[in-house]
Amino acid sequence: STNRTFTMIKPDAVANGHIGAIINDITTAGFKIVALKYTKLTAEKAGAFYEVHKERPFYNDLVGFMSSGPIVAAILEKDNAVEEFRKLIGATDPSKADAGTIRQKYAKSIDANAVHGSDSDENAEIEGNFFFTADERF
Ligand code: CMP
Repeated sequence: STNRTFTMIKPDAVANGHIGAIINDITTAGFKIVALKYTKLTAEKAGAFYEVHKERPFYNDLVGFMSSGPIVAAILEKDNAVEEFRKLIGATDPSKADAGTIRQKYAKSIDANAVHGSDSDENAEIEGNFFFTADERF
């Protein structure tokens, strides 16, 4: 059924000039943009967004990286959105991402991996709500 996922274009992909190409890949793959924002996370906000990872060894680096520069946040809609978007972006580690996926094309490392994608419908809802109010969704 038609549902939603949440994504961020991360600071590495923004800094490397890939916003347009990544949005083109997303819309060409059939995702409708429900909400879209160019913004920058403070360390505090990045820490809260990734709270689920706070006991992981990469947490501090992740928070530092995600607050290091502007990002693009978006809510996307498609049939089976969470799973379909994870296929489009490829494996978390870009060296393991399939050819043609967004991470294979634009990411350099597991930390600077170009895009985030929600891992479940429940997290897609939580993450979308972190960035967007009801009147910012169309
Ligand atoms: P993301 O989908 O944004 O969710 C958490 C991020 O942590 C992940 O992408 C990676 O960029 C980063 N990360 C760094 N090391 C790891 C790891 N070993 N396992 C999972 N995620 C990692």
